[in-house]
Amino acid sequence: MYEWIKALHVIAVIAWMAGMLYLPRLFVYHCEAEIGSKQSETFKVMERRLLKAIINPAMTVTWLAGLYMAWAGGWYASGWFHTKFLLVLILSGLHGLFTRWVREFGADKNTRSQKFYRYINEVPTILMIGIVILVIVKPF
Ligand code: HEM
Repeated sequence: MYEWIKALHVIAVIAWMAGMLYLPRLFVYHCEAEIGSKQSETFKVMERRLLKAIINPAMTVTWLAGLYMAWAGGWYASGWFHTKFLLVLILSGLHGLFTRWVREFGADKNTRSQKFYRYINEVPTILMIGIVILVIVKPF
């Protein structure tokens, strides 16, 4: 059972991360599109669908499967897990910000620069590298 849940967890992680890496890229391109243009309206649909159809359900499954394994495997007492948990909380907070930004773009109320989204684009990658090293190497 545990191994099946782990497989489900990794599948959900891949989908969540794919979305978390792609959505800020869409924000970068969306900044260049003129408000009211066809391009801008297309980006709105892409952002909303990516969030609702992929990112949100993938995050829910990742969390449920991860918490089950933390409980079933007794990992909640391990140092690596505490650190991974902290990084995952930051990733989830970023997810919340992305949700807000999708809404702002949807209402043509984005106030942030393209450069800002270019920097933000790197954050999920950095968090993912840390999380994967912690859970695979389990250094402490
Ligand atoms: C949402 C909260 C999360 C919780 C509570 C959680 C918890 C866990 C636990 C307890 C395991 C089992 C470790 C083992 O059996 O050795 C695991 C496996 C794994 N997690 Fe997570 N995780 C979460 C999110 C993530 C995220 C966001 C990523 C990647 C970005 C990730 C990547 C992995 C990988 C790759 C494995 C498989 C490791 C192996 O093959 O042993 N997890 N997770």
